[in-house]
Amino acid sequence: MKTILVTGGAGYIGSAAVKALIEKGFDVVIVDNLSKGKKEFVDDKAKFYETDLVDKEQLAKVFAENKIDAVVHFAAYKAVEESMDNAVKYSDNITGTINLLNLMVEHDVPKIIYSSSACVYGTPEQSPVDEDIPISAPINFYGYTKIANEQVIAWYSKVHNIQYVFMRYFNVAGDAGLSYIDPDAQNVFPIIMEVLSGKREKFIIHGDDYDTRDGTCIRDYIDINDLVKAHILALDINNNDIINLGTSNGVSVKELVDITIEVTGKDIKYEVGPRREGDPAIVVASNDKAKKILGWEPKRDVREMIRTTYDAYFKG
Ligand SMILES: NC(=O)c1ccc[n+]([C@@H]2O[C@H](COP(=O)([O-])OP(=O)(O)OC[C@H]3O[C@@H](n4cnc5c(N)ncnc54)[C@H](O)[C@@H]3O)[C@@H](O)[C@H]2O)c1
Repeated sequence: MKTILVTGGAGYIGSAAVKALIEKGFDVVIVDNLSKGKKEFVDDKAKFYETDLVDKEQLAKVFAENKIDAVVHFAAYKAVEESMDNAVKYSDNITGTINLLNLMVEHDVPKIIYSSSACVYGTPEQSPVDEDIPISAPINFYGYTKIANEQVIAWYSKVHNIQYVFMRYFNVAGDAGLSYIDPDAQNVFPIIMEVLSGKREKFIIHGDDYDTRDGTCIRDYIDINDLVKAHILALDINNNDIINLGTSNGVSVKELVDITIEVTGKDIKYEVGPRREGDPAIVVASNDKAKKILGWEPKRDVREMIRTTYDAYFKG
């Protein structure tokens, strides 16, 4: 039986991954500082440590008490705007990763799967975006932490032979059956749900004068269940690799609003506001590599993601 250390295992994606790993028969050890995640989302069968990755002593205890076979590293602060106000806090994303790598070396843990992001492509000039497009100047400090972590992991791989898979997520959405409610909505799906619940007055579409089919930005939304499956498949890869996780299908913000109205039968109050600085018109993944290397295929579309998110928020 393999033991997987899941960092950030109480968060949105991490808790779904823990559930899937346990269903597949893995033993799971979780490290989460509960800054955002919630213990109630953590499977009882996982061993849980409420520990911050920057706390070297506590983290060392986790490695000393468990024989870890691989690390799936989700833990990070991820609010883009906050990262531009508080580099001190977001530097923990890098420090925590280095602490983790040092302990992996000390305990001969051979493999890490790292949650990266499409933001490492900066403002891509072409879509679909494939993994060969060079990573570019990040437009926020959060994006920088993703690039820095990819680079430091790649160096540890060269020097200490740790094998890595970087998973570059596009926009993750939907629910994995845990009825996960984002306590601090920053992403478009939870924001729409807050508008539907009345917590927010209206939904703001940031610009409708882009060069797209309806003038609003086009993004690639990947279902959390499909995303998690890709991580489990990646545990069997034996080479270093970089893999985009998206559907290759773009959905515009306006289409997202219309589909939500159609799927939920509820009206959404929205308004068009100014563009946000640095927002590219279109960001859609090429997922050919994920299909080829992992034998993976995303199964759920954006309607399904809206339906499961809506059920999580309103039917619990
Ligand atoms: N959600 C998305 O659309 C998306 C897109 C691209 C990349 N990602 C990346 O995927 C990963 C998971 O994202 P998520 O949406 O589940 O976020 P989340 O905030 O729900 O989960 C992150 C978890 O990590 C924990 N954490 C944060 N810093 C920590 C630290 N220093 N020590 C220990 N625990 C810590 C938090 O408490 C939380 O439970 C992150 O690395 C994020 O950057 C997410």
